[in-house]
Amino acid sequence: PIIPVILAGGSGTRLWPLSIKQKPKQFLNLADKELSLFQQTLLRAQNISGSYPPIIVTHHRYRFLVAEQVVQLNVKARILLEPCSRGTAPAITLAAYEALTLADNPWLLVLPSDHYLKSTDSFDTAVSKVIKDNRAESVLVTLGVEPTSAEPGFGYINCAGKAEGGTGLLPVTGFTEKPAKPQAERYLQAGGYYWNSGINLYKAGVFLDEVQHLCPAVYDACRNAYQKLESDLDFLRVPIADYQESPVLSVDKGILEKSSRLMMAKLDAGWSDIGSWKANWEIAHKDNGQNVCLGNIQHVDCLNSLLRSDSRQIAVLGLKNIIVVDTADITLIADKSRSQDVSLFTDFVQGGT
Ligand code: GDD
Ligand code: MG
Repeated sequence: PIIPVILAGGSGTRLWPLSIKQKPKQFLNLADKELSLFQQTLLRAQNISGSYPPIIVTHHRYRFLVAEQVVQLNVKARILLEPCSRGTAPAITLAAYEALTLADNPWLLVLPSDHYLKSTDSFDTAVSKVIKDNRAESVLVTLGVEPTSAEPGFGYINCAGKAEGGTGLLPVTGFTEKPAKPQAERYLQAGGYYWNSGINLYKAGVFLDEVQHLCPAVYDACRNAYQKLESDLDFLRVPIADYQESPVLSVDKGILEKSSRLMMAKLDAGWSDIGSWKANWEIAHKDNGQNVCLGNIQHVDCLNSLLRSDSRQIAVLGLKNIIVVDTADITLIADKSRSQDVSLFTDFVQGGT
């Protein structure tokens, strides 16, 4: 069986003022008027044939947001709460222990919940291809996306080799998490590099072996914490005393960058990290003037803009290439080309993280 592991404990600031620590990106409706990115991830997990109900791993602080968004979709899930944030390596390790109680060495399909996929079908196909390939049983597989820019905020996978046997699994010769911009530019020029989508597939046992081997401190802390797992109404909890012993480590830095058992499969499903308001504009539905309008918006003679309001009515006249995001406390008005810079505000304006 396949057990989806949904990571939903991070906090992002690039979509400020909407994405704040109390309600980060994954819980927002960005591309879709109805569903948050997290909910879209839940449905994608449910859609994978042969998949169990997912294990959602999140911070204690997001437990009600998660529970409410799960209930809205009427899906089954286990919600594992971290008492403190230690990054994705320990989060997946806890989920791997939980998965081993549900099935005999199941596949873990690790799904970040903070990005958008245009095509569910291509995603399903990529996953089932990996699982059918015998080589995948003893390695860690990550799904890679053809890069379109030298974005430094991603992991870069070096896949110099060609797909063997037509199954699409590629040997990885190197993995660099969040390189500096000039290095990312060199990767793009060189070719043969892919962006890490953050979507991983591996057997629970193989993952735990790698954690034990590469990050023993994470392994020990998670094993001790998991032994004291308690269920509390709708949630599963581990004690802070054990969990906080784990170093803070992402799976990318701690495992994928170091592992000699990494392979990649290509994902061609219209993946977007939605790392900025501009990226949100790119993937969302647009009107005739190429405007994205969400909420209570009136506009005349506007072009190429993203206009969004949670409640107040916003009227916009004769502007192009702008971002307007209105929330209860804060209104952001920005040139679309500056949308990478909104995190400038998050430190000193109310509502930021
Ligand atoms: N449960 C839990 N606990 N989830 C977490 C934690 C944590 O401590 N930290 C992050 N997450 C979740 C986030 O909510 C998100 O869904 C996912 O894990 C990835 O974490 P990010 O913090 O958003 O990572 P990133 O965007 O900087 O980098 C990752 O994603 C890129 C693609 O979007 C890496 O995997 C990169 O290599 C990758 O290119
Ligand atoms: Mg992210």
